[in-house]
This record gives sequence, C-alpha cells and structure tokens, in this order.
Amino acid sequence: MTPKYPATIILLVLLILTSAFTVQAQENKFNLMPVPSEIKIGKGHFLLDSTFAACVTGTADPRIHNAASRFLRRLANRTGLFIQQDFVIPREKNKHSVLFIQVERPGRLIVGEDESYTLKIEDDEIIVSAVTDLGAMHGLETLLQLLKGDSEGYFFPEVEIKDAPRFPWRGLMIDVSRHFFPLDLIRRNLDAMAAVKMNVFHWHLSDDQGIRVESKVYPKLHELGSDGIYYTQEEIKALVKYAADRGIRVIPEFDVPGHSSAFLTAYPEFASAPGPYKIERRWGIFDPTFDPTIEKTYEFFDRFFGEMTSLFPDEYFHIGGDENNGRQWDNNKNIQKFMKDNNIKDNHELQAYFNKRLVDILNKYNKKMVGWDEILNPDMPKNILIQSWRGIKSLAESARHGYQGILSNGYYIDLVQPASFHYLNDPIPDSLNLSAEEKKFILGGEATSWAELVTLETVESRIWPRTAVIAERLWSPAYVRDVDDMYKRLERMSFLLEEHGLLHQKNYEMMLRRLTDNHDIKALKTIADILEPVKIYNRHFQGKVHVQHSPYTRTVDAARPESMTAREFNLLVDKYIQTKDAPVLDILRGMLIKWESNHAELVKLMEVSPIIKELEPHSLNLVKLSRTALDALDLMTSNRLPSNEWLEQSKLAIENAKKPHGQTEFAITGAVEKLLKHNGWIK
Ligand code: ACM
Repeated sequence: MTPKYPATIILLVLLILTSAFTVQAQENKFNLMPVPSEIKIGKGHFLLDSTFAACVTGTADPRIHNAASRFLRRLANRTGLFIQQDFVIPREKNKHSVLFIQVERPGRLIVGEDESYTLKIEDDEIIVSAVTDLGAMHGLETLLQLLKGDSEGYFFPEVEIKDAPRFPWRGLMIDVSRHFFPLDLIRRNLDAMAAVKMNVFHWHLSDDQGIRVESKVYPKLHELGSDGIYYTQEEIKALVKYAADRGIRVIPEFDVPGHSSAFLTAYPEFASAPGPYKIERRWGIFDPTFDPTIEKTYEFFDRFFGEMTSLFPDEYFHIGGDENNGRQWDNNKNIQKFMKDNNIKDNHELQAYFNKRLVDILNKYNKKMVGWDEILNPDMPKNILIQSWRGIKSLAESARHGYQGILSNGYYIDLVQPASFHYLNDPIPDSLNLSAEEKKFILGGEATSWAELVTLETVESRIWPRTAVIAERLWSPAYVRDVDDMYKRLERMSFLLEEHGLLHQKNYEMMLRRLTDNHDIKALKTIADILEPVKIYNRHFQGKVHVQHSPYTRTVDAARPESMTAREFNLLVDKYIQTKDAPVLDILRGMLIKWESNHAELVKLMEVSPIIKELEPHSLNLVKLSRTALDALDLMTSNRLPSNEWLEQSKLAIENAKKPHGQTEFAITGAVEKLLKHNGWIK
C-alpha cells in the first residue's frame, strides 16, 4: 500500500502532537519542579521493594557515589522500605542493581559545564545517563520527585526524560552579615538548592553589620568586626566541599568600598575619614568607605583577597560595589586632590578606578570579578560579571557592551512578594531586544536573601518555597509559564523540601505557640493564615525602627510572604463570580463565617499574650470585612440590590481592612472588593 502522506510528514505531525501533549500531561501529572525540557510518559511502572539497588558505571567523580547513597536513604525514609544496599561504592555491580547511573566523566564546577541528563524508567530497570556526574545528580533528584504510592506499594512511573538547563548560573545569595546563619542552616539550604537543580551559592560574607570570616592575615577583621560571630577557615573549607559534593559552586562576596563599617572598625587606617568606627546595628546605607587613593588600601586587598581566594576555589569572586554614597569621598581633601590630579571627574569614575585596581589583584589570583550593577563602567575590562539588582536594563546594557551578567532584580525574595511575580520575571524577556550574540552574555540569575528582617527562625520561610520557582525560571524552557500549574507544583515541592530539614513550614506553628504563650493557637492561626508582611521595604516605615537586635518573633515574622489560604479564597471568589456554583458558595461562606467569628477567641489570647495585642484592629476589621462579603454573597444569591447605607458601611469596612497593622496586611481584601465591583455596586 502506498501511504497517502510521506512517512516523514506523519512523523513530524505526531512529534508535534506528542510533544505538546507530553509537556501538558507531565505538568499536571507528576508535579515536577523544575519542569524538564522533554518527557515521554508510558503506561507501565517500576515497583519498588527492599532489594532495590544502584550502581554507577563509567568514569565518575566519587561524589556521585555519595549522592547515590543519599538517594537510597531518602528513598528508604520516604517509603519505609528496609532497602538492603548500604552504600553505593565504585566498581561494585550489585547483582540486584536496577538503577544504573551511567556517567562519562567527572563534572567540573565551572560556568557552562554539561549538566544535562536523561532518565529512563522501565518496568524492570531505571537508567540515569549523563555526560557528567553533575547531570546525573540532577537526574536522581528528578527520579525522587517521581516517586508515587498506591494500594500496590511505591513505584516510579514509566517515563523517558531528556533534560538540560536553560541557563548555566542558577543561584541563591544568602546574607549572613546582617543576621548570622549557622552552618547547619547553610548546609540544608544547599541540599534544598540541589533538589531544585540550583548550582551557585553566593555567600554575602561582609557588610556594615559584620564580617563573617576568620582572617589569619588580618585577624582584627574577625576579632573586632564580627561580634565574635564568624566562620572559621576550616568551617568554610568544609562548607565549600559540602556544596561541591552537591554540584554547587560557592562565590564569596566581600562588599567594598561601601558597606564596609565592619572592615573599617577593624582597620580604620584604610577609611576615607578618620575613625574610630563601630559595627553598625541599624539598617540602611552608611558613610564608612575605603579610601581608594592610598596605596596601603590595595596592599590590604592584595593580602586579604590572596588569603580568601585560597579558601574559595571558584573562578569568580564578588566584591559587592553597591550603594557607595560617596559622602566620605566628597569631604576628604586628599581624595578630592587625587581626583583632580588624575582627571577623575566624579565618584562613579573614582569607584571605577578602585574596581580596576581590584580586578588586577583578582586576576593575579586567577579570579574573575563579580559586582553589583554599580560597577558597570566602559573603562572596566571585559572579564567581569555584572549582577543586576536595580533593574533589568543594566543587564541588557552589560550584554550590549560585552559583559557577562546575571539577573537579581525581580528575584529579591526578602521583599516578600508572591511566587508568581518572581516566576514570570525572565532574565531575557522579549522586551530586551538583544541579538542572539548578546543574549549569550546573560548567564542566569540569583535569588537574593537579604537578612535585615530575618533570623535563623524565619529566614527559610522567606527563601522557600518561593526560590523553587526562580530555580524553575532559570532551568526550564522559557515557555513554561503557567502560573496556576506552578502553584500546584510548588505546594508539592514545598512539602518535599522539608525532607532536608528546612524550617520554612515547621517554624510557623512554633512561632504561633510562642506568640500565644503555649495556649491553643487556633484563633491566632486563623487570622495569621490570611495576613502577609507588608511588601517591599514598607516595614521600615511603619512606626517601628528595626535594628539588628530587635525581636523578629512577632506575627509579621510568623506570617508567610504569600498566604496560600488567601490565594485559595481569592480563586474561589473568581470561580464563584464566573460560575455561581453552589458548592463554591458553601466553601466561601464557611471561610468567611470562621473569620467573622474569630475575634472573641482572639481577644482571650490577647489577654494572656500582650505581644499579639497589636492585631486587635485587624481582628475587628476582619469581622466587618467578612460580614461585608457574606452579605454580598447573600444579595447576589437572592438577586437583591444593596441599600445605600450598607454600601457606605461596606466601603468603609474594605478601606479599613486595607490598612496595615503590626506591619502586616490582609491578603483577602482585594477579593472582597471584587465581589462588590463585579456587581457594579462600587467602582
Ligand atoms: C543591593 O541590594 N544593595 C545589592
């Protein structure tokens, strides 16, 4: 029989159909995060039992064996199966091996290393295959995310995945200067990063509030500049190894010439104004700045960077460079004279001079300089990397001028914005209008966890789970942008991340217990569940001055950056408006009645726990806001119109509920307002 259409065309059509189908299907079915670039889904499955065993073939770095052993323990812990294999060791072909990890060569921790992998699950064997062990480790994480259970037991579904990152630089920055975080916290965050396929840990080690490394060459740095709170060199080396074992590069940041109160507390002789200096306790931008016009400053950096570059093997080294207010430079006669003598026209040019001197030092130690976007200057050599924080435009500008860059603007997770905001923030949006050549300079991005307003109790709830969606933006194909689907998968991912010991979910109830002095937290939880901290930097402008030693234990700290209860309510309101569905109405009513009746119980808690008294106006406003929504739903279901008096009261209730108290705000007010607007009762 002669085919009606050539086979190639049929194949092509099939390919297009199946690829569209499989992406859609997998997003809905397996909750993978980040979404892999290609997946084919079969009908079978690999059933797990305690004989499950793994082996590694090919030429591999020893870290893949450790990663495979950790994989087995995680599998056992989730399933309760007493998996017999203890460790995966080199050259061992366990006769029960069913998981084959095939690696061609050890991966190098450099930008652009091959991190691709394929994963093939069949009924009787699983193959993770990769050029490097870095890719194989990503494959193992995907495999763990695929684990499922049903009445038959635990299994992996039959799939074939081909996957590789969109960007080579997928990072998380943690500021340990403003508030210090112990190594166990850093380690479990590295595990979480690996779980979402991130590969750069940017360690913000110095700022006005403290320098957090031991220096043997300049011991006063940690003796006088850290309040005794710092990492020893042995600890740093061990942490760098821990990260490398998980395929993660570590980039240290020493923020200069501004943000340097702690440096200059230890060594005021390098400052642009006479000291003495002290470690800063407040938040903001401060004057202490290195003097870029004296040679001993560069002798200091030569020796200090020499010491630090020996601790951090990565090719890149971050010198900060942000937010230098230039005040000390303006007021120093010698500096002004130096600028005149050397034809340096302004502070930006002077900082470029300083940066060029630091580039020379770093190049001597075989390091490439990274800095915040203030370091961008046409005089700088091309081998530096720009971290764009003030706007994506600086990233485009860097690329146009031939500088490598990464995006952090839009990934500031300390600003407590919704996951969807970060998710849709692309390092290369179409609006940038870059050529294909220019796009190559954009290496990826970093989530930034600044630590003014977090402590070791709360920092993880600001990092996770939202950082997982930034990880997906940087890993998955650009077209993966379905927000509802992302939230569904994020909920699953947030739960999975707890496996690494993260406190992002756990600490919520602990903090509420403390806030209620160990009374029943129900009434506090009811209101805290729909409160969010005020956004961006507004918390600094609401009647309380926060400093380093302030309490970060109030409701605003317990409240999550994005309320999932509010999100559910908001989606239900949308659905009800569209469908007038009776079961949806029942759920909405149930939520609103709970909120309306919460106040009496919360008042009792306030009597024993004055720390939550600041919620009283919110709680009273919630009663009225809930009543407004309940009345609106009643009017809608009975097709009646509101009275003018009701409308006036309701508008007031909504306006009052929008006001922040205790630096928190309700995340449901917009949805209630929408109910009234939809009916044309208010504009
Ligand atoms: C910065 O946020 N100052 C880099």
